[in-house]
Amino acid sequence: MTGTQEWQALDARHHLHPFTNHGELAQKGSRIIVKGEGCYLIDSEGRRIIDGMAGLWCVNLGYSEHRLVEAATRQMAVLPYYNTFFQCATPPAIELAAAIAEVTPAGLDRIFFTNSGSEANDTAIKLVWFYWNLMGQPEKKIMISREFGYHGVTLAAASLSGQWPMHPQHDLPLARFTHVGAPYWYGQGGELSPEAFALQAAGELEAKILALGPERVGAFIGEPIQGSGGVIIPPPGYWAEIQRICRKYDVLLIADEVICGFGRTGRWFGSDTFAIQPDLMTMAKGLSSGYQPIAALAIGPRVGEALVGSGQEWFHGYTYSGHPVAAAVALATIRVLRDDRLIERANGPISRYFADALASLADHPLVGETRSCGLIGAVELVEDQAARRHFAPARKVGLMCRDHCIEQGLVMRAIRDIMVLSPPLIITEAEIDEIVTKARAAFDLTLRDLG
Ligand SMILES: Cc1ncc(COP(=O)(O)O)c(C=O)c1O
Repeated sequence: MTGTQEWQALDARHHLHPFTNHGELAQKGSRIIVKGEGCYLIDSEGRRIIDGMAGLWCVNLGYSEHRLVEAATRQMAVLPYYNTFFQCATPPAIELAAAIAEVTPAGLDRIFFTNSGSEANDTAIKLVWFYWNLMGQPEKKIMISREFGYHGVTLAAASLSGQWPMHPQHDLPLARFTHVGAPYWYGQGGELSPEAFALQAAGELEAKILALGPERVGAFIGEPIQGSGGVIIPPPGYWAEIQRICRKYDVLLIADEVICGFGRTGRWFGSDTFAIQPDLMTMAKGLSSGYQPIAALAIGPRVGEALVGSGQEWFHGYTYSGHPVAAAVALATIRVLRDDRLIERANGPISRYFADALASLADHPLVGETRSCGLIGAVELVEDQAARRHFAPARKVGLMCRDHCIEQGLVMRAIRDIMVLSPPLIITEAEIDEIVTKARAAFDLTLRDLG
């Protein structure tokens, strides 16, 4: 049997990881995860680790949902693959499209399948450009997104992303992509109230549209809550103002629901939580609870009718668009979310328990703010609580704390010095207590290391 050291050696020799410094990883050796059980991971040394991140913000039903395993097994036996090109479809793809249309906000009734969130966002961009071509406005193509936004890694999705270190290695962003600031009140709001800062941050979009010329701006894209940018929850009023600006200047609005979708914020979509009415919506992750790679773009009536009525073939699609096994698993995921009332749960007592548990950490000397919405949350580690001042980035306080979390048996991710959580929606009160106890111990060790 292969053991940890052999796996680590093979991994270092042959396997390239996403977003990784490979020299550093080869020195350290990867952590090999061999099993999942409910909200827990088990590594190759037999250690049980509570997964406060639901994998990568996706395993919303936890690691032991037999109804998803059965859906996959059943579909594998009947029809493991067929494509949706050449005027064909499969029952799972059709039924999943209808099920998604039922849970998305009104009008987002046409669904196109991809394999990843990046591809869903790429597809949205292509459709925006095709739409404005069809409308006879070929100049209206500039995409506006935000600092701290993350929309994926394909050339276009990485261009949308506003995490600056992603750009120079690949000569990005491409032409036609530009960015505005984020509604990050805690880090950037200064003396303004959250509400005043919301209007200022949204106002940056209006200023950018006016500077570029509304006739050149095709769409604005944003995550309802910016997840991998640091769980940035927009202050009240932000999204209403963004919506007003997009309407005023006839700019299409795209909601990237890859993290927020399927119950994470306590409603089906972040767009429901923040009353956003997007023209296009991308989703992935929670769609299949991470059990299969599948993502989708939901298209509203304006763009949908233009596409369907264009009389043209749309030259776009993936071999695995609407893969029947992935679609069957996603369909089963939506059924479980409904049958077990998990979205109501994420909007009810468990989300309050989660918020209170995070808030209980606020008395720690390192903690500047705790915040959450549904079952996504963050804890800001700061040097000066009163001034909302972070540590110098070179001190890598977040990474130090993340390593202590792992030593305690907790997966909590560090984004800069923001410790974030996005646990499975099935998490229990006792498991939330365990997360918070382990997080506090990790904060104590971090404080000790900082001297
Ligand atoms: C908001 C958001 N959009 C898009 C993506 C990209 O999705 P994928 O990694 O499936 O390409 C992610 C991934 O984390 C995401 O968080």
